[in-house]
Amino acid sequence: MTNHNHDGRQLASKWEKTEALLSHPSLVPHIPPTSRFSAPQLRSMLERHGTVVIKPVVGSGGKGVIKVSKSGNGFSYTHYERTVSYSNFDGLVMALLQKMGQKSYLIQKGISLATVNGRPIDYRVKYVKSFNRWEYRALVGRIARSGLFVTNLSQGGDMVLAGQGIKASLGPSYVKVKKREMRELTVISTRVLEQRFPGIVQLGFDYGIDRQGKIWIFEVNTRPH
Ligand SMILES: Nc1ncnc2c1ncn2[C@@H]1O[C@H](COP(=O)(O)OP(=O)(O)O)[C@@H](O)[C@H]1O
Ligand SMILES: [Mg+2]
Repeated sequence: MTNHNHDGRQLASKWEKTEALLSHPSLVPHIPPTSRFSAPQLRSMLERHGTVVIKPVVGSGGKGVIKVSKSGNGFSYTHYERTVSYSNFDGLVMALLQKMGQKSYLIQKGISLATVNGRPIDYRVKYVKSFNRWEYRALVGRIARSGLFVTNLSQGGDMVLAGQGIKASLGPSYVKVKKREMRELTVISTRVLEQRFPGIVQLGFDYGIDRQGKIWIFEVNTRPH
């Protein structure tokens, strides 16, 4: 799904954008393993990763983003503040399919984000092309509303300066290096995306930083807020 307007080219499919980023070897280690949703894929990714996130291929605002985990002898999913457990895989899949309806979904390895007071935090970098040059417009942290795992501001997340968020979640020694790394990933990703999708002029990158300090690219928006 693509259209053009004064905000530049819009790309709705998370799958297409993720595939484009995967074409660059230095981005690959920063993209959580991702596949299209199917029950067999869900089963094998749960075996491999323990926790996965499923999300609509076309979606925004954290809507429809569901965390799924394998625990000891059963399974559970979390959607908004509600967690439901199942003793077998088929029960889990039936419930998920009902929630998902007709939409297409992705499955992504679940990243254990660093937290502030137990609330996951991730980061938004806004990058805009102005007079033919890309420039930063914002680098902020978003702390999930208490009880949620999604950080989206539209779900009640709190915005902080990126440096404050990194300091509060990982410690002061991480601030400079993680900000620099997010900027570097933004430059490389933008080059790749612009080559694949000419006409884009604004990008909003969602970066997670896990408890070990590793940066992950969750998604790139072409109509960022
Ligand atoms: N793979 C993941 N592991 C952990 N949390 C995730 C993952 N993917 C998304 N999230 C959480 O869900 C939020 C929304 O997901 P995102 O991919 O940005 O979709 P949306 O278009 O709905 O914003 C992210 O900001 C993050 O907080
Ligand atoms: Mg997002």
